Amino acid sequence: MSNEKKVRAYTNIALIKYWGKRDDQLILPTSSSLSLTLDAFYTETSVSFDDSLEKDAFYLNETVQDEAATQKVSRFLNLFREQSGMKAPAIIKSTNYVPTAAGLASSASGMAALAGAANLATGLNLSPQELSIFARQGSGSATRSIYGGFVEWQKGTSSSDSYAVKVDDANWDIGMVVVVVNKKQKELSSREGMKLTVATSPFYQGWIDSTAVDLVNIKNAINDRDFEQIGAITESNGMKMHGTMLGANPPISYWEPDSVLAMQLVRQLRKKGIPCYFTMDAGPNVKVLCRLSDSEKIKTAFLDYFNEDQLIISGPGSDLKEITL
Ligand code: ADP
Ligand code: DP6
Ligand code: CO
Repeated sequence: MSNEKKVRAYTNIALIKYWGKRDDQLILPTSSSLSLTLDAFYTETSVSFDDSLEKDAFYLNETVQDEAATQKVSRFLNLFREQSGMKAPAIIKSTNYVPTAAGLASSASGMAALAGAANLATGLNLSPQELSIFARQGSGSATRSIYGGFVEWQKGTSSSDSYAVKVDDANWDIGMVVVVVNKKQKELSSREGMKLTVATSPFYQGWIDSTAVDLVNIKNAINDRDFEQIGAITESNGMKMHGTMLGANPPISYWEPDSVLAMQLVRQLRKKGIPCYFTMDAGPNVKVLCRLSDSEKIKTAFLDYFNEDQLIISGPGSDLKEITL
């Protein structure tokens, strides 16, 4: 279709992590989180309702998806159907310019782009704040992918006030070098991993308490543009999240040997005077927060141990946007 409207949403990497839900259905988090949106990784999605269809059809990367994947998308679209009165089935076409389910936040860009495309197709004309609330119900991290720059997901008191707000455009010298250790799909989804952690980790309350302090401190550091402070808090918060996972029963670890290697390299570069800090999500890949102006230097140092195609430099991404073909 030549007039088909697509929506592009960028992934985001949390500096202050979301790891646990207080409401599984509505996806309300146990704590607030804060991320940096990345321009190198994104999803583009279109939704078109069509009465002649029998049921929803979901294409990801030009491949028709199975029943389970389609149902997940259908359930999400039903939220838009309920609100708009639209009843027809839809064709959903999506392309991930990010590895799917590999710990590179495809659920963030994927669900945010789907929310944006459903908003267009239903004509609901939702505000960014409302869109953030909808995206949240697809995947928690998607709440934040409505906006570019540094974004906070405020945990709120209920569904209506658990949404993202932009903290800073990040239009300054900041970026990430993403070290793709392994882009295969993970065995344990973020959803299952965090559920098990909340239910069984004795460290969980410590995580809740300290992440609240980290959030206040990182917002001050962002306000002051104190990069080293932002980085130090990011690295510490990510490690604490992985600490809660190690305390789960059975224990959870997403790390691979090359993840540890990448973390060691970051520490070495820091000793040599290059300010850079790592964070990891529910997967083996390592994200190195740095000055964008230092990113080539950092990439070159990593090339001694990793291949060129495993190292992706990204600047800050922008708000979700409509793309007309
Ligand atoms: P990731 O680390 O990539 O975010 P998750 O386990 O959190 O991994 O989420 C992966 C899930 O996100 C997929 O199984 C799928 O349900 C959803 N997802 C990923 N990309 C898309 C997309 N483009 N459109 C809709 N849903 C998507
Ligand atoms: C480690 O948003 O993928 O990346 O809400 O169940 O879909 P669901 O999980 P998801 O979890 C992201 C976890 C994280 C940290 C973060 O992005 O804040
Ligand atoms: Co995810």
